[in-house]
Amino acid sequence: MSATRRPPLRVAVLVSGSGSNLQAIIDASRSGTLDARVVGVISDRPGVLALDRARQAGIPGITVDYRACGDREAFGARLQGELQRLDPQLVVLAGFMRILPAAVVDSHRDRMLNVHPSLLPLYPGLDTYRRALEAGDAWHGTTVHFVIPELDAGPAILQYRVRIRPGETEDSLRQRVQRGEHRIYPQAIQWLAEGRVVCRDGVVWRDGQRASGPEIIDETG
Ligand code: GRF
Repeated sequence: MSATRRPPLRVAVLVSGSGSNLQAIIDASRSGTLDARVVGVISDRPGVLALDRARQAGIPGITVDYRACGDREAFGARLQGELQRLDPQLVVLAGFMRILPAAVVDSHRDRMLNVHPSLLPLYPGLDTYRRALEAGDAWHGTTVHFVIPELDAGPAILQYRVRIRPGETEDSLRQRVQRGEHRIYPQAIQWLAEGRVVCRDGVVWRDGQRASGPEIIDETG
């Protein structure tokens, strides 16, 4: 717990799938290493494991079914309504597989995070593990960054790097990178909760200094 004893940061989490990052955030907030409270989980599709995880943790799980909405604007409007109701201080995208309408992003400017499985600016978009392996890269990893309307392009806070091993497969790489995500996502949120990290005009400030790039953590062992 932080010494300042401020109320826990109210966080809404947007998901589409298994929700292992959501689980890491819930676990960290329960263990006291993260001064945050997940006030709601919103999924763009029904029946995903992430919603079960929310239910098991006693957190409201909301489905805004993209398919039932018809188009991106209608989806954005419904999502926006649910977010307004939850009134979070921070919106966290955790395996959320939709490109958000710019209006939703803009109304949470500097208060919305994403985790993307690459060392951004490398490999925005899908299939990052395959692309890194095919390129013969020495390193791969994952990035926690602020969200801007452009896909996977907002200012980065924290990266986790793993060295690609001989014989590495997409699966083995994914497992190692996701272990790192489960560490760095709660960490980055905690920095925001403590006020140690803020984003202003597209620039990340860390401990009162303009950050020249993301903090980088390397896999150990
Ligand atoms: C994560 O690896 C994240 O990098 C990507 O989608 C995956 C979601 O995993 N954006 P989970 O739903 O948190 O298990």
